[in-house]
Amino acid sequence: MELEIRPLTSEDAGAWRLIRLRMLTEHPEAFGEDAEEFAQRNDAELAQRIREGNVIGAWQAGKLVGTVGWFCGRGRKRAHVAEIWGMYVAPEQRRNGAARALLSEALRASALAGVQVWELGVEEQNHAARALYESEGFSTWGIEPDAYRFDQQAVNILHMSRRA
Ligand SMILES: CC(C)(COP(=O)(O)OP(=O)(O)OC[C@H]1O[C@@H](n2cnc3c(N)ncnc32)[C@H](O)[C@@H]1OP(=O)(O)O)[C@@H](O)C(=O)NCCC(=O)NCCS
Repeated sequence: MELEIRPLTSEDAGAWRLIRLRMLTEHPEAFGEDAEEFAQRNDAELAQRIREGNVIGAWQAGKLVGTVGWFCGRGRKRAHVAEIWGMYVAPEQRRNGAARALLSEALRASALAGVQVWELGVEEQNHAARALYESEGFSTWGIEPDAYRFDQQAVNILHMSRRA
């Protein structure tokens, strides 16, 4: 069955809670948010993050199997810049084009909202994600050493950007 790519709504908060917990638990090195801290958020907070973070889902037979989101910078001077966040595809759906389809939809939808510069952070050893972003026109402009820590490991983040 084909993947469906569509934005999440507040109705999808329960499905997003499950997949977000999964990504934060399975890949603590890939995301800056802590799984236990996320687990304490209530449904209203999740619905707000879905809305403000423009979360888009990849759906397979009605099941949420991948996500990405984007949010604009605050204020008039940053309105043309968006951060891409929360990119994840469930292991059983990988290498099937889901991440590329999600990213493409995030770029399309944010461009319609006036975005012309996209930024994101990726852990420096994450070769799969880096290859995806590079193939979609992102390039690295800096590295943030020790950007966050888990289990006493320091994680270095590459900052990448792309222009319209
Ligand atoms: C990174 C991730 C989102 C890719 O999802 P995916 O649906 O498998 O990716 P796609 O099938 O759309 O592949 C798109 C491109 O990404 C790159 N890519 C994806 N997986 C790769 C891998 N294992 N090794 C090398 N390149 C890879 C390739 O360039 C690929 O293009 P190609 O198929 O034409 O070679 C997925 O592996 C994932 O969720 N990883 C864990 C969470 C994570 O790291 N998120 C990113 C945080 S910044």
